Amino acid sequence: MEETALSGRCVVITGATSDIGQALCMSMASAGASLVLLGRDKTTLEFLEKKVRRLAAGVAIYEVDLTSDESIETFVNQLRLETDAVDVLVHGAGSFEMGPLASADASEFDLLFRTNVRGPYFLTQSLLPLIRQTPGQIVFLNSTVGLEAKKGVGQYAATQHAQRAVADSLRAEINNDGIRVLSVYLGRTATVRQKRIFELEGRTYEPALLLQPGDVAKMVLASLCLPRTAEVTEIRMRPLVKSY
Ligand SMILES: NC(=O)c1ccc[n+]([C@@H]2O[C@H](COP(=O)([O-])OP(=O)(O)OC[C@H]3O[C@@H](n4cnc5c(N)ncnc54)[C@H](OP(=O)(O)O)[C@@H]3O)[C@@H](O)[C@H]2O)c1
Repeated sequence: MEETALSGRCVVITGATSDIGQALCMSMASAGASLVLLGRDKTTLEFLEKKVRRLAAGVAIYEVDLTSDESIETFVNQLRLETDAVDVLVHGAGSFEMGPLASADASEFDLLFRTNVRGPYFLTQSLLPLIRQTPGQIVFLNSTVGLEAKKGVGQYAATQHAQRAVADSLRAEINNDGIRVLSVYLGRTATVRQKRIFELEGRTYEPALLLQPGDVAKMVLASLCLPRTAEVTEIRMRPLVKSY
C-alpha cells in the first residue's frame, strides 16, 4: 500500500493510549495522517504524541472521558476551532468487566454501557457534521463476543452487541452520503487488558500466541484505503492458534 495513503487526512482515534490504539496511531501516522488522539491518561498521551510526531502530518492530544457528555462536548468544540473536517473516526476506546450475570454488579453494567455504547454514540453524533464534509469513514473496534455472547462476559457482550447495532443502523443511514462504517470483531489480542483477563482466569499469558495489535492496525488501514467504490462493513479477526 502507498505509504501516504492518508496524506494530510484528519484521523480521530479514541482509546489511543491502549496497545491497539497505539498500533493504530503508528499505522495511520506512517500513512501520512494528521492525528487527533483521545484518552484519559495524560502521561501516555504525551508519550504517544512524541512517538508519532516524526511520522504524522500533525498530532494533537485531548484528554476525554467518554462517560461524560461535557468532556465530549468540550473536545468537539475545541476540535471545531482546529478543523472543519474529519476524514476518519476510529472508536478504539472501551472498558471490560468479567463475572456471571447472577452476581455481576448492575452499576458496573451502567459504566460499561456509557463507555462502550453511549460515549461512542454521542461522540459520533457530535462529529458527524465534520465527517460529512469529506465524506469520512467510521471504524468501531468491536469484539467477537459482540457477535456471539459467551458465559462470564454477559455485561460486556451486551455492550458489544449494542455497539454493533449502532454501527449497523448508522451505516444504513449514512452510506448514501458517501460515509463508510466498519465494525472490526476482534478475538483475544495481546494487550494489557488481555494480560489482566488471563490473570483473572488463572492461566499463563502467552502474548505471542494471540492476535497482534499491529496486525489489527494493518487490516483497519487496508480497509480505510480501499477505493470508494467498495465498502468493508465487517472484519472478524482471531488468533490462528487457540491457546485458551
Ligand atoms: N484486547 C482484546 O483482546 C480485545 C478483544 C476484543 C475487542 N477489543 C477491543 O479493542 C479496543 C482496544 O482494546 P485493548 O485491549 O487495547 O483495550 P484496553 O487495554 O482495555 O484499553 C482501553 C482503552 O480505552 C480507553 N478508555 C477506557 N475507558 C475510557 C473512558 N471512560 N473514556 C475514554 N477512554 C476510555 C483507555 O484510555 P485511558 O487508558 O487513557 O484511560 C484505553 O485507551 C477496545 O475497544 C476493546 O473492547 C479488544
